[in-house]
Amino acid sequence: MIHRHFLIMGCGSVGKRHAKNLIALGCRISCFDPNHDRCLELASGMPVVQSFGNLADALSITDLDGVIICSPTAFHPEQTIKALSRGLPVLLEKPPARTAADARRMVDVMRSTGLPVLLGYTWRWWPPLARVRELVMAGRIGRILHVQFHMSAHLADWHPWEPYQDFFMASAAQGGGALLDESHWIDLMVWFFGLPEKLSGRVELISDLEIETDDNVDVHLTYPNNLRITIHLDLYGRPHEKFIRFIGEKGTILWSVEPNRIAIGNKSSQTWDEEFFSFDRNDMFMSVAREFLDVVNGAPIRTCTLDDGVRVMDIIEAIRTSSAEDRTVVLNKEPIQ
Ligand SMILES: NC(=O)c1ccc[n+]([C@@H]2O[C@H](COP(=O)([O-])OP(=O)(O)OC[C@H]3O[C@@H](n4cnc5c(N)ncnc54)[C@H](O)[C@@H]3O)[C@@H](O)[C@H]2O)c1
Repeated sequence: MIHRHFLIMGCGSVGKRHAKNLIALGCRISCFDPNHDRCLELASGMPVVQSFGNLADALSITDLDGVIICSPTAFHPEQTIKALSRGLPVLLEKPPARTAADARRMVDVMRSTGLPVLLGYTWRWWPPLARVRELVMAGRIGRILHVQFHMSAHLADWHPWEPYQDFFMASAAQGGGALLDESHWIDLMVWFFGLPEKLSGRVELISDLEIETDDNVDVHLTYPNNLRITIHLDLYGRPHEKFIRFIGEKGTILWSVEPNRIAIGNKSSQTWDEEFFSFDRNDMFMSVAREFLDVVNGAPIRTCTLDDGVRVMDIIEAIRTSSAEDRTVVLNKEPIQ
């Protein structure tokens, strides 16, 4: 068995998770974080080959097989480009960047180096969502007319070990905020239905959260064939809720995280065929790690590419424009160059 050696960039919440999972899969891990305490925390819970407070030193490790980028979003483009330029495959946490232009710069370098970037819009690896996608594609509830994406989770509950005001989510410069960070739901929309024709949206700070980013996003999207979609994202809601409701001509499919289930109904009453699941959140991160190992071993990316990330970033930019200019924005469907 080859014990691959990976560099974790950013040893916070998701960096520790990826490190632990890759070690469980037989890999060796080194880590980089400008906050030395974070490197110490990671190394206290698992075996680490080397730890660094400086990126150039970390990238000078000679036997690296790839990097896992888990830093705050603002650093993703620079770190991805440096890793690719050093000849290393990348597992990049979502979102790819703060802006579509930055994401396209990364695509240019990825193309010129010919190296893979696996993008971590991790809900794509969640088996119940893959099942819903199959049901929708197979026409289980007929033609889909309306879909509601809903994610509500109070920011103070995300990282109980630190004041939310210090978390990068509170910082515009570091790439926080509901629209960027919860772009999972935009990605899932594109994964299910492709690109919309037009949208109108609002991106705001409406609660008393002490953040300089947005905590409320509402978007209405128009697709061909009379499909209409709404997305609501907020950072102030309790209890936390994540669900998607698909309404078709022959019934409704409801997917949620809690309860961990898919429900299908087609009666006027609240009569649902329910399927419950016992997957754990870490299962999807393990699946991401397995796919990254396959990619490092030469397999093509199966689930989420940097080009998928550019599509999400284009929609994010359109939502920002719509909100700032208070108007409907028509999306440009030109292929990614
Ligand atoms: N796929 C998912 O479901 C998922 C879940 C959580 C986080 N994420 C993404 O992962 C990234 C990190 O999120 P998190 O929750 O782990 O945040 P976090 O704040 O817990 O961790 C970020 C770490 O990066 C470090 N850091 C700061 N500046 C850095 C730099 N220049 N280079 C390297 N590290 C730096 C911080 O010290 C911190 O330890 C974000 O982009 C976030 O959107 C994805």
